[in-house]
Amino acid sequence: MPNDINDLASRFPHDFAWGVATSAFQIEGAAFEDGKGESIWDRFCREPGVIADASNGDVACDHYHRLEQDLDLVASLGVDLYRFSISWPRVQPAGEGAWNEKGLAFYDRLVDGLLQRGLAPHVTLNHWDLPQALQDRGGWASRDTVHRFVDYALGIQRRLGDRLAAITTHNEPWVVAWLGHKEGSFAPGIRSRKVANQVAHHLLVSHGLALRALRAEGARARLGIVLNMAHTMPLTDSPEDAAVAKLDDALGRRWYADPLFKGRYPAEALAEFGDDAPQVQAGDMEVIATPLDFLGINYYSRHLSSARGPLRPEDKPCPKTDMGWEIYPEGLRELLLTMHRDYALPATYITENGGAFPDPVGADGRVHDADRTGYLATHIRAVGEALAQGVPMAGYMVWSLMDNFEWASGYAKRFGIVHVDYGTLERTPKDSALWFRDLVARCRAPRKTGA
Ligand code: FCB
Repeated sequence: MPNDINDLASRFPHDFAWGVATSAFQIEGAAFEDGKGESIWDRFCREPGVIADASNGDVACDHYHRLEQDLDLVASLGVDLYRFSISWPRVQPAGEGAWNEKGLAFYDRLVDGLLQRGLAPHVTLNHWDLPQALQDRGGWASRDTVHRFVDYALGIQRRLGDRLAAITTHNEPWVVAWLGHKEGSFAPGIRSRKVANQVAHHLLVSHGLALRALRAEGARARLGIVLNMAHTMPLTDSPEDAAVAKLDDALGRRWYADPLFKGRYPAEALAEFGDDAPQVQAGDMEVIATPLDFLGINYYSRHLSSARGPLRPEDKPCPKTDMGWEIYPEGLRELLLTMHRDYALPATYITENGGAFPDPVGADGRVHDADRTGYLATHIRAVGEALAQGVPMAGYMVWSLMDNFEWASGYAKRFGIVHVDYGTLERTPKDSALWFRDLVARCRAPRKTGA
């Protein structure tokens, strides 16, 4: 029984941390309230044609006004931790200078509310919603933003640091750099490979400098970064496809992990980028390689590489989620084993994993999302297999607590284990939420010896 819940639970130690994740822009709403500044996503959503359903984050899940109810929802799952992000423009509207007391007070209430419910706060500083005021002065392409980010990190630590379990600097720098500055499909919508690479470098430098500054000021929270990673595989066993897979892996996974763990960019990626490689100042690589307390990995699917160019749908044989992403849980185990082989990993968390499915509400008013439960079960099993093979896995977080604004896909793609009715904003736990709650409870339950 591959997905048997007791078998699954038995694969994890009692102190393995379970959680659910969200991000500020995707759930908070209240985009222009209580002194919040404009973010690059507020601005981007207003450009015609960039968001599939022409929606925006103005209301989102209205989490800003439903904080207590949502924290009760997290607590009802019986998890250990909640991963959320801080909206930089909500707490520092211009990205520098004056702080916004009402914004800071909101996160005070959030953190205190978690602690009161016995939940560990895992904060992300940058889940993509850069203050527009900084974008107007060059954004992540400008080296000055690196220093603005360090000041912001210190401001958050001074206000909340005594109560945080973990601080993540950046969520998925690849997405910010590549989708935001090379593809242009995400904010701020720039299309230049050279700019994208410089952005990636600035994100990494700002990460390292922030870690150093936070530690110098006595950080109590554990400090880390979250990277998105696919498991990259060649489409066929031809040597040509193998070569492309190796390069794709260097341009994606290793472009971030090599600097963080080895203090250098992969040589084959630098060669591929040529004149588009980033400008690196003396000392940058040492800063980037500042030791991490933890690494977060977001995994959704595998990546197939082919020398033939873009793949056709028939090249991707596995069942797919509503995003069109192949469901490939073995890839998560293989990715974790690869990471363990390549680097001296610190405590490693799956900080995001989950699937979008259509999720119709049944006649009984519930959402019977067996496909999502299956997705979660098989991927959690893969984490258990990696753990059994020595990968230092410390926790797993579902993306996401609730349906939310899925960036360029708008509200049509639902990743939540809790359903959100966007007409009434009512929250209804899906079957997958009840299953996840049961799994966490069974992981905690006393076990028979030898079981
Ligand atoms: C990740 C993002 C997260 C969510 C999931 C589906 O790339 O970090 O905010 O959108 O994808």
